[in-house]
Amino acid sequence: MARASPVFICTACSGETVKWQGQCPLCGEWNSLEQRASSARHAAGRGAQGGAARALEVPPPRRLDAAVAGIEKRLASGYEELDRVMGGGIVPGSVTLLGGDPGIGKSTLLLQVAANVAGTNAVVYASGEESVSQVALRAQRLGIEGRKLEVIAESNLDAILALASERKGTLLVVDSIQTIESNTVATSAGAVSQLRECTAELVRYAKSTSTAVIIIGHVTKEGTIAGPRMLEHLVDTVLYFESEAASRYRIVRATKNRFGAVNELGFFAMAESGLKEVRNPSAIFLSRAPEAAPGSIVTVTREGGRPLLIELQALVDRMRFGAPRRIAQGLDSNRVAMLLAVMNRHAQVSLQEHDVFVNVVGGIQISETGWDLPVVLALASSLSDRTVPNSLISFGEIGLTGEVRPVAYGDERLREAQKQGFKVAVVPRENTPRKPLDGLHVIPVARVGEALEAAFSRSP
Ligand code: TYD
Ligand code: MG
Repeated sequence: MARASPVFICTACSGETVKWQGQCPLCGEWNSLEQRASSARHAAGRGAQGGAARALEVPPPRRLDAAVAGIEKRLASGYEELDRVMGGGIVPGSVTLLGGDPGIGKSTLLLQVAANVAGTNAVVYASGEESVSQVALRAQRLGIEGRKLEVIAESNLDAILALASERKGTLLVVDSIQTIESNTVATSAGAVSQLRECTAELVRYAKSTSTAVIIIGHVTKEGTIAGPRMLEHLVDTVLYFESEAASRYRIVRATKNRFGAVNELGFFAMAESGLKEVRNPSAIFLSRAPEAAPGSIVTVTREGGRPLLIELQALVDRMRFGAPRRIAQGLDSNRVAMLLAVMNRHAQVSLQEHDVFVNVVGGIQISETGWDLPVVLALASSLSDRTVPNSLISFGEIGLTGEVRPVAYGDERLREAQKQGFKVAVVPRENTPRKPLDGLHVIPVARVGEALEAAFSRSP
């Protein structure tokens, strides 16, 4: 049989090459190729190609109806907020990557989830970061020390997988992928080739044993899991932890999900005894002072499958020197720059000599366009030092010609505002509800100028 030749993996782009070279032929990086013993799968594939008499193992096909009937039930994580983000619970045989900044609460959340699942299933929690007694101490603080959860402090992937298969684990948690090493790769933990190989092996293990695997990954400065984005396409589901510095609220967002919708959000709060679910998220983003303040406005977004009331804040200040600054947190700053141009051209509100800061309170990222109109109102409010009434909400997209455009789920957003006790809504004309809403006065607008007039002509 032909001898399996080694494979070379680039540490920069993680591409594969069959022979060693000084420069990666795929990305052009120098001295970045690392040798890796080719795995059994590679060897088998090449052996067959080389004419060696080895039959490829082909799994027999299955009838789809029988396969559907055989689908195992999803595991409940013990948190409705997390189950919803994952599309209705944890799918057996699936691999999930949970990313987030160090210290945000990844280990805490997954230890709690592991303990919940361990009530009825075999669960293995493998930590390459902490000792078993450190994990035990944390479990004690979380009040879950009595659960039948198996903890292993181990960074060798083969040892972790051996334990998981011996225990016939239903759920395997790996904390974190940056600390795990596979014997098949010669590099140390955290190297690109290690991250890739370990993740690939975990995926193979999950699929062949129907074990649900959750992998923790620390986010680097660039904001991507483990630096390279390559892990994201290997796994089924990618979850990110979002938070604002110093805030105790945590948001879990699905950015990829083969088993559910993306951009679903789950809300948690970090307390003394671990993470607690937040059932009424609108309330947490609205804990603002009773008096209206210039630059502040509330909008209803529809991030993550449900309407959510959020406070937006803007501050405009006379530019001191150099070029004006446009800084946005939680929003796309290029779009803020576009809104400033629209205000200048179509509403005669000029902020060209001003520094502009826009912030979404609560540390949530908003990716839809419904915040255009409320941001314009908040900017105008800060500039003129006039308040928008506290009982007013607004949403709507703004076009380059100064028109206010409708957004999806208008009725749902208005009903949420009504439910939370808002009295006035400045919204796109096309989002006017067919039936009036009790207690909520809707002001439809078609142009930016009209919206500014509507928001500031009303007394609180
Ligand atoms: P951790 O889960 O270790 O973060 P990660 O795994 O993402 O790095 O969370 C660490 C932080 O959470 C730490 O600063 C302490 C805080 N914390 C609490 O406030 N309450 C708790 O019950 C626990 C376990 C941690
Ligand atoms: Mg941790």
